[in-house]
Amino acid sequence: MGRELNNVVVIDAVRTAFGRAGEKGIFWKTRADDLIVPLLKALIKRNPKITPDMIEDNIWGVTNQVKEQGGTIGRVVSMLADWGYEIPGCSIDRMCAGGLTAVGFGTSYIASGMADCLIAGGVEHMGHLIMGFMRDPHPRSEEVMGGPSAFNMGMTAENIHERFPEFTKEMADRYAAKCQLKADEAIKAGKMKDMIISLEVELADGTRMVADKDQPPRPNTTIEALKDLKTPFRENGNVTAGNASGLNDGACAVILMSEEKTKELGIKPVMRWIASAVAAVDPTVMGIAPVPATQKALKKAGLTMDDMDIVELNEAFAVQALYCLDRLGMKWDDPRVNRWGGSIAYGHPLAASGPRLVAFLAGLFKEHPDAKYGLSTMCVGRGQGYSMIWENLLGK
Ligand SMILES: CC(C)(COP(=O)(O)OP(=O)(O)OC[C@H]1O[C@@H](n2cnc3c(N)ncnc32)[C@H](O)[C@@H]1OP(=O)(O)O)[C@@H](O)C(=O)NCCC(=O)NCCS
Repeated sequence: MGRELNNVVVIDAVRTAFGRAGEKGIFWKTRADDLIVPLLKALIKRNPKITPDMIEDNIWGVTNQVKEQGGTIGRVVSMLADWGYEIPGCSIDRMCAGGLTAVGFGTSYIASGMADCLIAGGVEHMGHLIMGFMRDPHPRSEEVMGGPSAFNMGMTAENIHERFPEFTKEMADRYAAKCQLKADEAIKAGKMKDMIISLEVELADGTRMVADKDQPPRPNTTIEALKDLKTPFRENGNVTAGNASGLNDGACAVILMSEEKTKELGIKPVMRWIASAVAAVDPTVMGIAPVPATQKALKKAGLTMDDMDIVELNEAFAVQALYCLDRLGMKWDDPRVNRWGGSIAYGHPLAASGPRLVAFLAGLFKEHPDAKYGLSTMCVGRGQGYSMIWENLLGK
């Protein structure tokens, strides 16, 4: 029985502000599930034609699925939002691309006809659940993954510097400083306001505040200041706190719908899903994987990088971003890439970052009606890349 695929569109995307992990972080006293609930409520409030009973699945990417992030968070949060018993939900893990995979699974569900409307998102509280917490790797995992550096993402970035010495520390610092500058300009211009849902939180010292701004950006970053930062992953190495993403807390959620359903409801969607691909590489240089993933997605879409008007590339580390841009045929400062800055400035709460890329792309599509196609792409610990291609529906 042959069947047509349904067109899948993004209706809206929201996120929490991103916090620094740890006691000085804005979410130190806020649970991961409590980061999600306000997003669910906000999505329904902002989109009055959508009611909770229309949400046919609630798919959440989460890396460390233990403690407050365990117990199938995607199922529980809809009940915490007081939506009753009838909203199914699940949690999935592809480390940093857990949330992008949630969006990818969501598009496949809708394309295949399994659902008409769902929420996909990602959450990570790296302050409460530190990277690798309670993990018990197989005794052979170091051997099969190419050595111990495969387990430490900073070391994988050092490995890229070593294996591809044309990407120097100076280039990584220049890239990072530019990222902070772009983020500062975007924040000052109010670009984050529409997507950030504010939350009242308690801080470590017991005072309360409204968390409505990202905590990680360092607006006054200069190349000079980055030059002499410590290299925690290798003695006399190249990767520093300044040219890496940080340790962060945050959540981001996206509403997906079949295009058919939007017509029935009279909703104007932002962008249409075109193609996705996932690819895997040597885990000791995991950051290079967006290249094969993007090449594969472009091939499926019948498009090339020249067709991409906006590129949202997750910056786990400046060096892997530089490698990916170069190998995909772009300059380090290509104006299509991370126009509002990237994870080096905003932070990288692992599984929350994929939907954050989708939220930024949606915002940029709104701002640039002349842009037709966009790419969301990211690398993943253990050596994977995930890429999604989208078409702007608000275009000319
Ligand atoms: C790199 C890393 C170890 C740094 O952690 P940290 O030491 O807690 O980072 P900090 O924010 O305290 O920064 C360290 C220092 O650099 C300085 N610094 C950081 N960014 C800076 C910037 N843009 N400009 C100037 N100084 C900066 C800080 O002020 C701090 O200085 P201090 O030691 O004098 O206080 C941590 O962020 C990390 O592990 N990142 C990678 C996360 C990861 O692997 N994610 C998964 C990706 S796949």
